[in-house]
Amino acid sequence: MPKVAVTRPLPEAGLVALREAFEVEIYDPVEQGEADEDRLIELARDAEALIPTVADPITEKVLATSSHLRIVAQFGVGTDNIDLEAARQHDIIVTNTPDVLTDATADFAFALLLSVGRHLPQAQEVVRTGRFVRWETQMLLGVELRGKTLGIVGFGRIGRAMARRALGFGMNVIYHNRHRANPTHERTLGARYVSFEGLLAESDVISLHCALNEDSRHLFDAAAFEQMKPSALLINTARGPVVDENALVEALAQNQIAGAGLDVFEQEPKVHPGLLKQSRVVVAPHLGSATTEARTAMARMASEAVLAAFDEVPKIPYRVA
Ligand code: DGY
Repeated sequence: MPKVAVTRPLPEAGLVALREAFEVEIYDPVEQGEADEDRLIELARDAEALIPTVADPITEKVLATSSHLRIVAQFGVGTDNIDLEAARQHDIIVTNTPDVLTDATADFAFALLLSVGRHLPQAQEVVRTGRFVRWETQMLLGVELRGKTLGIVGFGRIGRAMARRALGFGMNVIYHNRHRANPTHERTLGARYVSFEGLLAESDVISLHCALNEDSRHLFDAAAFEQMKPSALLINTARGPVVDENALVEALAQNQIAGAGLDVFEQEPKVHPGLLKQSRVVVAPHLGSATTEARTAMARMASEAVLAAFDEVPKIPYRVA
């Protein structure tokens, strides 16, 4: 049986079809140590298919290891951890898992927004530490979303799902994207296209939903924070390096922005200590797609792509390279 190497345990319900046709080797970082480049090379050595996650660096060296590697089926939608150019050169198919995590990720971005805007972590702390001794008129006052402007950076599936949620909360939606969205999307979501500078200046909340690439790396730097409203909140469920964390820490210290909700970090799983010291920052360990529904569907889609690559179907589903 050909071997499929999986870089960490995935929902078994999504692997049933795969297990019928392949020997499935599942790497467990808890027991075997973090899947760094050397360990990934070892894992991929005799594999014909590899299922990695956002946390695994699939470098040219990893891709070149196994002469039989046919497909890298990413368990996730972003593929910035994979050297796509090297995959093309080695004739290795790359697929991802779009759509099925759209709602989960937009839900989580909204959860972060409500959490920062209404001081949920501090509220919980007050109750848990026995400091809820009376109802108070001025305790932990937050911001109301109705009538506020949400600026969305990256108007793909997840950005648009965020816009839909914002409409339900009575927010105005503006967006910036490499390409302007089609008029139907703009109309149905009531979303207005603006320049990046326009988005920085107008938004009460900015939510990031763009892919990580050379254009978006450190898009939010000191100059960007200077242009934001001092009352603005930044939500990032996209990729950590879109934000220059040193600049964010400084912007928060200088009250250039009011708070941030972060699910992703520049050097995951490390988090800038300056962010952890800030009470106006809510942090999460990259949970955007972390629902049972999304993760099971992601495993199923990765399996489907591997099976298709071995069946040599003319059109591999979810192919990105
Ligand atoms: C993705 O899919 O790109 C997420 O960041 C991890 O699920």
